[in-house]
Amino acid sequence: MIEIGVLVSGNGTNLQSIIDSIEARRCSARIKVVISNRPDAYALKRAEKHGIATEVIKKEDFPTREAYDTELAGRLRKHGVGLVALAGFMRIITRTMLEAFPMRIVNIHPALLPSFPGLDVQKKAIEHGVKFSGCTVHFVDDGVDSGPIIIQAVVPVKDDDTVETLSKRILDEEHRIYPEAIHLIGEGRLQVLGRRVVLKDGPEPTGSLENPPVSIFADKTRP
Ligand code: GRF
Repeated sequence: MIEIGVLVSGNGTNLQSIIDSIEARRCSARIKVVISNRPDAYALKRAEKHGIATEVIKKEDFPTREAYDTELAGRLRKHGVGLVALAGFMRIITRTMLEAFPMRIVNIHPALLPSFPGLDVQKKAIEHGVKFSGCTVHFVDDGVDSGPIIIQAVVPVKDDDTVETLSKRILDEEHRIYPEAIHLIGEGRLQVLGRRVVLKDGPEPTGSLENPPVSIFADKTRP
C-alpha cells in the first residue's frame, strides 16, 4: 500500500477528503505524516483527530528555500513516505524536493490547467468569462502548476457566480478527484508518457457538456 505524506498550510479540506476516502476504503493508501509550514493550520487538527502524526516546519528557521526543502525531504523520508501530496501547501517546491521525490509529488489546483496557473484562479476564471472551470490533479515539476495532468473535473461557471460560489463548486470536485488520483498512483495504474499520463485498463470517458445548454435539438422548431 502506498505511504503518503500530505503537505498543508491551511484549512485542510482536501486532506480531510483523503482521510475520509482511506477510512471508507475508497482509496488504498496510508497517511504517514501531515506536515505544515504554519503552526496554526487547521489541517493539523484534522490530522490529530484521526491519530495521524503531524509536524511543523517553519520557514523562519531556514536561511534558504533549499535548506527548508532539505529538512522537509528528510522528515518525509524518516516517516517512510513514498508519495508526497500537496494539499493547499503555500510554498514553492524546489529542485531539492523534486530530486528527493522524482515524479512522486502531486498537487491539486483549482482550475483547468494549463488555464489559470498560479494564485486567485477562481477570480481570474470569472473575470476572463470562461464558461467552465474545474480542478486538476497533476505531478509537480519545476514550473508553476505545469506538470503532467492526472485527472481533471469540470464545473460550469454560472452567470451570477462569485469567487465564493465558484470556489465551493470546484472544491467539491477536488474532494472527489484527489483521493482517486492517489489511489490510481498507489495501484500502479498510471503510466507517464512524456507529458501524457495514461490510465491502464480504465473506463472510456463519455459525454460532452455545453454552457449555456444548447436547446436547438430540444426545441425542434423555433417560432
Ligand atoms: C484548494 O483550493 C486547492 O486546490 C489549492 O488550495 C486549496 C486548499 O484547500 N491548492 P484546503 O486547505 O484543502 O481546504
